[in-house]
Amino acid sequence: MKMNPSILLSCMAVAVLVGCNSADSPKKPGSSDGTQASENSATGDGSGEKPKTNETATTGEETNGVKREEWGTAGDGQKVFLFTLTNKNGTVCKLTNWGALISELHVRDKGGKLGDVVLGYESLERWLDSDGNGKANPSYFGCTVGRYCNRIANGTFELDGETYLLAQNNDPSHLHGGKVGWDKKVWAGEIVDHDDGQAVKFQLTSPDDDEGYPGNVQAEVIYVLTDDDAVRIEHSATTDKATPVNMTNHTYFNLAGEGSSTILDHELKLETAKYTEFGKNDIPTGEIKSVEGTPFDFTKSTRIGDRIEKLAGEPGGYDQNYLLREEKVEQPALAATVHDPASGRVLEILTTEVGIQFYSGNYLDGSLVGKTGKKYEKHFGFCLEPQFHPDSPNKPQFPSSTLKPGERYSHITIFKFGVRE
Ligand code: BGC
Repeated sequence: MKMNPSILLSCMAVAVLVGCNSADSPKKPGSSDGTQASENSATGDGSGEKPKTNETATTGEETNGVKREEWGTAGDGQKVFLFTLTNKNGTVCKLTNWGALISELHVRDKGGKLGDVVLGYESLERWLDSDGNGKANPSYFGCTVGRYCNRIANGTFELDGETYLLAQNNDPSHLHGGKVGWDKKVWAGEIVDHDDGQAVKFQLTSPDDDEGYPGNVQAEVIYVLTDDDAVRIEHSATTDKATPVNMTNHTYFNLAGEGSSTILDHELKLETAKYTEFGKNDIPTGEIKSVEGTPFDFTKSTRIGDRIEKLAGEPGGYDQNYLLREEKVEQPALAATVHDPASGRVLEILTTEVGIQFYSGNYLDGSLVGKTGKKYEKHFGFCLEPQFHPDSPNKPQFPSSTLKPGERYSHITIFKFGVRE
């Protein structure tokens, strides 16, 4: 496998750029890299992605260093693939077009040892039947959530004088796009060229009335693995009728390695001092509050477990939405930094979004067994999900999540890895 020297050069140039976005980039630990496939040739979003055309996918082949293997079938017999991206440091990211999700992510610790830092399953069969009772990925590991991530109160909203009723799959709320959200769909997947590194693009058509939402939506997610150990995720969508759109990636991280322990010893710093107050059923009241003097204050790097017991309610733990900024920004900016002192791994999250949900894996209870046979117990993973605020369609005071015909929804998030001694 060889990497084209011009691709390598542009990767390096972009790697420097991505690094510049973060205030205090962690040090990089201790190499790799090149084929094939295309089923679609849709437009990019002007962010460096160049669609590949006139190439046909073949089982187990490679394009641009990205390996593509057939992984089985889902839905009404649609083909599911596993894509393996590798960068020059040996960092490996595995993606699948079922749920447009991240199934494995192997990054180095301070001793240079690779470890898989995301929760998930080892085969398509287990993604489709995760609990042994036919439930497909009930905890939303690794997936792309849409059309609207997080909750919409009572599964209803008004738009342009019409009232819409969505699936109330989190009684009485609508959660993560409904009963069969975008996380449970087979997306079209193809390996694409990208200035920043190895890349795969996923595309989905969400029809009018999908889970109750208005309008036909064309959604796209591009994952890029850069040579400076960042996974860049570019979400975008268009519609033919006004509709709420709020896409996020729902990866559960454990920087000590998936299935190894809780994440309570990880230290978290958030680049915000404001959170959206929650009321009944985890729906925001609409008030934005200061974190000062509350267990939600992560303005200084703080061990996640330090104040977790002070949080009221069942099942306990963090499930909190924060305000990063009043408006989206063009270039991803630092939102969160997580450090695991034991492994030395550091994760920085940069995003263009206005809000971020911090969820400490509170509903994990040992009933799900992960890809290496370990039980995922309570707090065995955390999610930091950049997004619009929950229930924005019913909260005019929040930044609007409405996408109109002629517009393009765009959200970029970067998961950047490094180590600290
Ligand atoms: C939400 C939690 C929910 C979880 C499901 C998170 O994004 O904030 O409330 O239980 O997803 O996996």
